[in-house]
Amino acid sequence: PVLVVDFGAQYAQLIARRVREAGVYSEIVAHSITAAEVKAKNPVGIVLSGGPSSVYEPGSPTLDPAILELGIPVFGICYGFQVMAQALGGTVAQTGGREYGATPMRIASGHPLVAGQPDDQTVWMSHGDQVSQAPEGFTVVASTEATPVAAFANDERQLYGVQWHPEVKHSEFGQRVLENFLHDCAKIPADWNSENVIETQVALIRKQIGTSRVICGLSGGVDSAVAAALVHKAVGDQLVCIFVDHGLLRQDERRQVEEDYVRITGIRLVTVDVREQFLTALAGVSDPETKRKIIGREFIRTFEQAERDLVAEADADGQPIKFLVQGTLYPDVVESGGGSGTANIKSHHNVGGLPDDLQFELVEPLRALFKDEVRAIGRELGLPHEIVGRQPFPGPGLGIRIVGDITQERLDLLRKADAIVRFELTAAGLDDEIWQCPVVLLADVRSVGVMGDGRTYGHPIVLRPVSSEDAMTADWTRLPYDVLAKISNRITNEVAGVNRVVLDVTSKPPGTIEWE
Ligand code: XMP
Repeated sequence: PVLVVDFGAQYAQLIARRVREAGVYSEIVAHSITAAEVKAKNPVGIVLSGGPSSVYEPGSPTLDPAILELGIPVFGICYGFQVMAQALGGTVAQTGGREYGATPMRIASGHPLVAGQPDDQTVWMSHGDQVSQAPEGFTVVASTEATPVAAFANDERQLYGVQWHPEVKHSEFGQRVLENFLHDCAKIPADWNSENVIETQVALIRKQIGTSRVICGLSGGVDSAVAAALVHKAVGDQLVCIFVDHGLLRQDERRQVEEDYVRITGIRLVTVDVREQFLTALAGVSDPETKRKIIGREFIRTFEQAERDLVAEADADGQPIKFLVQGTLYPDVVESGGGSGTANIKSHHNVGGLPDDLQFELVEPLRALFKDEVRAIGRELGLPHEIVGRQPFPGPGLGIRIVGDITQERLDLLRKADAIVRFELTAAGLDDEIWQCPVVLLADVRSVGVMGDGRTYGHPIVLRPVSSEDAMTADWTRLPYDVLAKISNRITNEVAGVNRVVLDVTSKPPGTIEWE
């Protein structure tokens, strides 16, 4: 792999994605990694991320300098660039030349790191400190007005760095520079693609599962659909999918899974109807975390019951089913601090939190992947756009989109509003622009309205359209007013009990995407 060393903030994840977009497999590691640990991972290259600190501040994150002596090509970005400069004998200083945002830069054309691009270009800067003097043996390959050393290179040692942020789209030739580093400077071939991932995963899944049976909870979402298709490719009919109808689903979701997905994949599906069980367990509960825990617990109970039923089937071998497939993605792993020592932001699970005494061994074939890679694999496996292109929908479903306690009536109401929103956004051709659009019912809030010549006292519906690349950060999507008007009109007219539609205009952070 290419190792992306995380110096804090959320740059590392974006860089890891960009490296993969360049066709090279990447993994995020903590900056505390030692040279020996790096060597053990046998990386073909290293990228040092940016971060919020100053290299000369006490306690700022450091890098084992021996990593730069391993003979592995290194590319430093922003803070990582400064760490590199300092470790190699250059000078980092606060020169007053603070730059933030789009900045004109001039490159010293001819160097492979900046090959194939115009001499004058715009890059995204965000720094107070700068490298005032490049280390000995390094050539300066770009500068801006305030930053004489905006990029440097040492071809002999294969060490490179840039002060600006090539991973953000505002840097015109950012991806090109990253690709130049990977392919031309470090000579790493672009061979990370869906086909290879499928091949590798299929082999791993076969090895893990052997001849046992395995179950997979299908949620109707992209991740579990692709995970199941991958496992099915690996072990065929050893896989049985369980679709849990917990009553927190969106309109038409069950039919879509039961008919479309099964027809396309040929996977055996068992639907369990546990709507009553979930509703009873959730009755009177309005605290979000409590809801999540109850839903997680009931999910697992349902899987365990389904497993017992499958074992008891007449033509079964009577052996317990040990394996449970989960559509866990790389950002879930990173956000939970898993494996890389990065910050624990919060734990997301497809099933809303797994108990410690889980009786299943997990099969997680998507654990190393980002959402867009999962979609590409789904397409490669032959899944249609209706499944692969679906917007993310949380495992706890509509249960965490009702602010207040959950009742049948409220669920039905929210389902109607949600269906209208989805229909209108699709009709307006906005699906690709929107990462997802939660529709939230404020069941604990009522406001006065007027309809015909009567007073109403109803609930508001919140629209939460967001644009995002990986759900770690998001911005609210600027939907056209006419689309908003249409949605608002339809909801207030067609959904009894709702007399107001409001728009959430908060980015993430500080808001999360979901309301609970
Ligand atoms: P937040 O609300 O944390 O959501 O900004 C980030 C993304 O994760 C989804 N989400 C979940 N997905 N189980 C899931 O499978 C969960 O418990 C869960 N909670 C949030 C959310 O829809 C968004 O895409």
